[in-house]
Amino acid sequence: MTVPIAIIGTGIAGLSAAQALQAAGHSIHLFDKSRGSGGRMSSKRSDAGALDMGAQYFTARDRRFAAAVQQWQAEGHVAEWKPLLYNYHGGTLSLSPDEQVRWVGAPRMSAITRAMLGDMPVTFSCRITEVFRGERHWNLLDADGQSHGPFSQVVIAIPAPQATTLLADAPKLASVVAGVKMEPTWAVALAFDSPLDTPLEGCFVQDSSIDWLARNRSKPGRDSQMDTWILHATSAWSRQHVDMPKEEVIDQLHGAFAELMNCAIPAPAFTLAHRWLYARPAGGREVGALSDADLGLYVCGDWCLSGRVEGAWLSGQEAARRLLEHLK
Ligand code: FAD
Ligand code: NAI
Repeated sequence: MTVPIAIIGTGIAGLSAAQALQAAGHSIHLFDKSRGSGGRMSSKRSDAGALDMGAQYFTARDRRFAAAVQQWQAEGHVAEWKPLLYNYHGGTLSLSPDEQVRWVGAPRMSAITRAMLGDMPVTFSCRITEVFRGERHWNLLDADGQSHGPFSQVVIAIPAPQATTLLADAPKLASVVAGVKMEPTWAVALAFDSPLDTPLEGCFVQDSSIDWLARNRSKPGRDSQMDTWILHATSAWSRQHVDMPKEEVIDQLHGAFAELMNCAIPAPAFTLAHRWLYARPAGGREVGALSDADLGLYVCGDWCLSGRVEGAWLSGQEAARRLLEHLK
């Protein structure tokens, strides 16, 4: 019997690694603490339709990632989003068009990771708390005290602060990963029964508690009856208000939204807040992935590259490449 490779995390980094390893003929098993795949690229089902609370869109600047996006587009899992873009600066909203191609999952962001996962073996609602080495193989322990294994290698594809705690058997890797700090982001969704009187569909915001807002319904394939909006707070505001109750966060960001929009903002019919504790890496890091090939441990995620969807996918590819290289 072949001993499979364990992959912790079904965000786009873990799934990117999983696809590359499967394509090379290896058997893998994925684990995720959530009930579904996608991580920060997942969408929230709600009474106002599916809402992209995390990643809003992505760009493809690397040739290899662009090829993957093209394939997802051909399969109908992604579509181009062409928002009417604005910029808010110094108290003024102004049109800010550009030539950048921006992609979104269709009909919701989570469609991409759902398609990548396909029928790969996976255990959801399983938070891994320990990764430990037996005589020849690796085993995983979950938060319910259940053990999983044996595994020949382990790929850890989760945010750095969460990965650090799983690296007790690899102190050198642990000390590098522990040096990576990640910033939180508060995300709020507002839904209105009647459409707001504005053509704006996306806005980069400066000088506010908000740094980005988007009309969720303007993305291709979204079928909400309501006019749905996503607001993202800045890292600084999110850090300062990290423990604020959700109702208060909604109030504050709704207020900031009303202040910067040039139209009447009625009371929303629906609201939702989500706190991403590890939303984005603080400071740039371009390591591709981290590994101790002799031990059989690989670590990847957006924080190893650009802190974006593209970087996460490339980091998963790099972890798989290193693992396959070692087995040659
Ligand atoms: P994740 O998506 O975080 O995946 C990690 C997975 O591991 C999760 O599913 C988690 O449940 C699981 N996990 C964690 N710990 C454990 C454990 N102990 N055991 C088991 N499972 C575990 N990027 C862009 O390119 N464009 C954007 O517009 C954009 N906007 C963003 C807005 C917000 C609010 C946020 C939060 C992120 C945004 N990003 C954006 C960043 C983008 O979402 C990430 O770079 C990318 O999704 C990260 O993928 P990943 O696989 O590295 O990590
Ligand atoms: P991109 O090229 O569209 O944007 C990069 C940055 O350039 C923007 O943040 C913005 O500051 C600026 N910009 C781009 N187009 C603009 C325009 N038309 N008008 C004014 N400013 C413009 O996309 P890229 O490089 O793929 O980045 C992804 C986005 O994801 C970024 O906006 C980033 O801030 C966001 N992100 C948010 C996270 C969060 O936690 N809130 C985490 C990770 C990424």
